[in-house]
Amino acid sequence: MEKFIKEVFTQEEIDIIESCIAEQVATREVVEWDDSVDGEHVFQGKIVKLQKDLGRYGAEGIVFPKEIYDKVSSIVNSGLANNMYKLTNQGEFYVEYNPKYGTPALLPHYDSGTCTLILDYQLSSTTDWPLGIDDKLYQLKDNEGIILKPLDYLHYRPVREWSEGDSVRMIFFNFINTLDIEHKNRINDIYAGASAPINTSDGVIDEV
Ligand SMILES: [Fe+2]
Repeated sequence: MEKFIKEVFTQEEIDIIESCIAEQVATREVVEWDDSVDGEHVFQGKIVKLQKDLGRYGAEGIVFPKEIYDKVSSIVNSGLANNMYKLTNQGEFYVEYNPKYGTPALLPHYDSGTCTLILDYQLSSTTDWPLGIDDKLYQLKDNEGIILKPLDYLHYRPVREWSEGDSVRMIFFNFINTLDIEHKNRINDIYAGASAPINTSDGVIDEV
């Protein structure tokens, strides 16, 4: 169910995002982090993780203004009939893949945890590096995003050669799924006898 989102933010919003990241990482200690030694999925909102084995500089818990959150929430929820996705309260994960940090790599993996939906947003880049989701590759442009279900599908970046100056900067907006109360009420109405389409192997019958 991957979905591309073009031109996610205005230039003004991108400027706000860039200054939030710059201000918040400036106060943090940069710590070398190895998942196999220091732990995988260990949230660290007060440092920058420098992951040499991933060629990645990563800052979790970056907080953006409400207007940014309102925008990504409405993008993610538009067109969804039965669910309401909400951003977690842990802030967002900003990363830069760059060979100056090590060899950028992302092995095929499922996420663990409670974030059932992620908006992978490409903030800026100097090179193309497709994102693999299941057996498909997706090339994002700057200021584009892709919505994916990281618990359900393997995701990765294909192995490639890197040169000095190559960089891919991303923000991961993590969403959890909460039930929309109005939709739950609708389900209760159907349970109590309200009219609803009945589906059969021959098609849909519209009335009860
Ligand atoms: Fe992941």
